[in-house]
Amino acid sequence: MKKVISVVGARPNFMKVAPLYREFKKYNDRLIHLICHTGQHYDEKMSKIFFEELELPQPDFYLGVGSGSHIEQIAGVMLQFEKIVSAERPDLVLVVGDVNSTFACSLVASRYGIKIAHVEAGLRSFDRAMPEEVNRILTDAIADYLFVTEKSGMTHLLQEGVGREKIFFTGNVMIDSLVHYLPRIEQSDILSRLGCDPGQYILVTLHRPSNVDTPEDLAALFNMLGRLSERQKLIFPVHPRTRKNLERFGLLEKISDKILLTEALGYLDFVCLIKYASVVVTDSGGIQEESTFLKVQCVTVRNNTERPVTVEEGTNQLIGTDASKIEQAVDRVLDGQVKQGVIPELWDGKAAERICRIIAEKIC
Ligand code: UD1
Repeated sequence: MKKVISVVGARPNFMKVAPLYREFKKYNDRLIHLICHTGQHYDEKMSKIFFEELELPQPDFYLGVGSGSHIEQIAGVMLQFEKIVSAERPDLVLVVGDVNSTFACSLVASRYGIKIAHVEAGLRSFDRAMPEEVNRILTDAIADYLFVTEKSGMTHLLQEGVGREKIFFTGNVMIDSLVHYLPRIEQSDILSRLGCDPGQYILVTLHRPSNVDTPEDLAALFNMLGRLSERQKLIFPVHPRTRKNLERFGLLEKISDKILLTEALGYLDFVCLIKYASVVVTDSGGIQEESTFLKVQCVTVRNNTERPVTVEEGTNQLIGTDASKIEQAVDRVLDGQVKQGVIPELWDGKAAERICRIIAEKIC
């Protein structure tokens, strides 16, 4: 029997590993699949609810690393993950996405001579001020099997000198989860709980350090959201980083009462809110993909995106962080000037099937 350990750490990892977990079960005559949760995200709203909704089992290993500086987090994950790897000696470590846990566990596996699979390889924002960009580059540099969600990923990896034989264009596992859970997503009662109607609200999420970590930028964004909330009801599920900063900068009391702030939401409720939004305003990476798949208009509050296919083919518009430009972009959407989109190639709900088949062929 061969042994694979898949790593999850932070919120955007859970929906990527869930379809892989289901698929790996098909190979249980040859392959043991274990899940290691680093505990980078640890609370009810950022972790537990995702395990429940996505029907993930209790992780086989829980590292309990928690919050801290990025260095504490990366070093903490490495120290704990080393113990697992040296005891378990897996044949493959599978990592997803670009969070600190992704890179930390890859480096440990590499030092132990264990093969690494990176799911969502090759994405590049070309902005090294983003911790995720550095995590992506470093992980791809040491991975053995690189699974790519969009063609730009292949181009970047080839340009960086990764051997063609290591790269596999397999589609998007995040979309696998969306496809799988769509019937349950559509049954969520979140719209009635928040008192809003389909197509009659703006959905906002902001949590990137570059947008929310300074008082000036965060205040300017919230002033802009206040003006947007005059046009349509505005719903903002707040990430813990953003909430902490709103409190720290004394901005919480100043927010327009037309903006409906909620706690961070679970998977089913949140994707339901995307599906029925008139427009999504976000700085998240994954939401650019989910809105593209659902053909919902998305205004991205960033100067770059590592997911260009969402702009070139999907419904995403890369607007930047200038408040007036964001407002104009949302206005254009609300006035009916919508961008047509198509669903990118291989975003068909079958990415995990392809990935697990390749992994089984390679290691069994
Ligand atoms: C991390 C990822 C980011 C991803 C995001 C999704 C990195 C470098 N960043 O950023 O790519 O988009 O997750 O959420 O890995 N906190 C809680 N409860 C939790 C987890 C965090 O309250 O369960 C709070 C803590 O106060 C913490 C803050 O949120 O300091 C930020 O968490 P952290 O894991 O450092 O980074 P994120 O901003 O969440």
